Amino acid sequence: MKVTVHRKAHFNAAHRLFRKDWDDQRNRDIFGKCSNPNFHGHNYELIVSVTGEIDPETGFVVDMKLLKDLIYSEVETYLDHKNLNVEVEEFKEMNPTAENISVVIWNKLRPNLKKSLSLSVTLYETPRNFVTYDGS
Ligand code: NI
Repeated sequence: MKVTVHRKAHFNAAHRLFRKDWDDQRNRDIFGKCSNPNFHGHNYELIVSVTGEIDPETGFVVDMKLLKDLIYSEVETYLDHKNLNVEVEEFKEMNPTAENISVVIWNKLRPNLKKSLSLSVTLYETPRNFVTYDGS
């Protein structure tokens, strides 16, 4: 019997989507407003989902307090109030799209969870646009 627990978190960050090898017009055509050369911010909403067996001793799949602290230390302190393109190593050469951000978040959390647990992250860039990544 497997149960999934979810923890919500939040961070604000600035980004710009562009390719250096494309001209301004092509960047505008493909990335729209997200290509603004002066950067812009998003209020990212994150849902971290952990699936596993219920521990018979505690009744927990994962200790929510530990999960909360893990998200804080690995994700919020790493991304909150950052200019993703400029300040976050992974995005110096990779576009900070919601897709790529979700993969970076998953990669930071995964090593800190027991192997028997499955991890999925859902990242909202806007209330209507969101992505999920489960490592597959
Ligand atoms: Ni954007």
